[in-house]
Amino acid sequence: MDFISQMEPWFDHNETSRLTEYMDSGGWLTEHIYTGQFEEMIAAYTGSRFCTAVCNGTLSLVLALMACGVGPGDEVVVPDYTMIATPNSAELIGAKAVFVDIERDSLCMDYEKMKAAVNRKTRAVILVSINGRCSADINRFVDFCKTNGIWLIEDAAQSLGSRSQGKHLGTFGDIGCFSFSAPKIITTGQGGAVITDNKELFGRIKMLKDFGREKGGTDNYLIKGWNFKFTDLQAIIGIEQMKKLEWRVQRKKEMGRRYEEMLADVSGIELIPTDFGNTVPWFFDILAERRTELIAYLRQKNIGSREFYPPLHAQPAYGYMANFPVAEQIAGQGLWLPSSSFLSDEQIEYVCDQIRSFYSV
Ligand SMILES: Cc1ncc(COP(=O)(O)O)c(C=O)c1O
Repeated sequence: MDFISQMEPWFDHNETSRLTEYMDSGGWLTEHIYTGQFEEMIAAYTGSRFCTAVCNGTLSLVLALMACGVGPGDEVVVPDYTMIATPNSAELIGAKAVFVDIERDSLCMDYEKMKAAVNRKTRAVILVSINGRCSADINRFVDFCKTNGIWLIEDAAQSLGSRSQGKHLGTFGDIGCFSFSAPKIITTGQGGAVITDNKELFGRIKMLKDFGREKGGTDNYLIKGWNFKFTDLQAIIGIEQMKKLEWRVQRKKEMGRRYEEMLADVSGIELIPTDFGNTVPWFFDILAERRTELIAYLRQKNIGSREFYPPLHAQPAYGYMANFPVAEQIAGQGLWLPSSSFLSDEQIEYVCDQIRSFYSV
């Protein structure tokens, strides 16, 4: 069996031929008509009123926080188990990231622990729908934040295609953020998007991402803004990727069910409950005993895998003492299995067979 990566992007002749046509047409590469089309596709797909594309998922979060007026002296509550861009987006603008533990079922922020972490300095909560899962309590987060005048930002970087109660993730809070980095379900290499239904916030987001200008191409600066813009070159790829999204969503759900069926009775691993009706498993995840040995064994069998993110509070970048038992346990055992959308059933079976044979000795 050829090497099976843990995750790879997937393109075909559609991206190639559209890129060639675009280059031949004399496009300026920078954000213009195709970026607008890509944004409209994301807004329509997620069911949000407004969308703008930005250079990456990290800056989509930064932009969301800036648009909400978060800055130095403010606190932003984030889960301890997430990709480090979530807390770093708050720290980049001088706010303090305050970590809280996650709940065992969804691996998302624990509602009660979030409430306990909120104080008068809290300006925003960033809810991360990790691996496309979402807390069953999402409406409680929405209500709590509304009642207490706290902005709710959804980091849905891993959740394109995932829903809850009929709504796309990223549309529950004030602003939703996405990433199109290389391992995501669709990718533009780097890239991100911000969605919102709030016209006023959207106006600020648009200005902040384009030097604070009143309008593109003018030199009238209403606020201090930056350059977080996208490019039409990426949008050409993004549009073609969006056309494939719904197929990938269905296929990844099918693959997730297959993994689940084949691994359900393997002793030594625990499956994390996934509601495939709503959740698109971005990465197929398990909790594994003897994880380091399993990774090495799979590597010998030409199979790539990846450990979960570490508990962030304890990383040298933050480095403080705290007790987040769920994040710590999950991070210590979690493993992501091969998850590219193009994997065949045979490849999935091969991966599952190898896991089974590892635990049978
Ligand atoms: C949950 C989460 N938030 C934020 C990001 C940052 O996105 P980007 O890599 O596009 O900056 C990622 C990227 O993987 C992510 O998984």
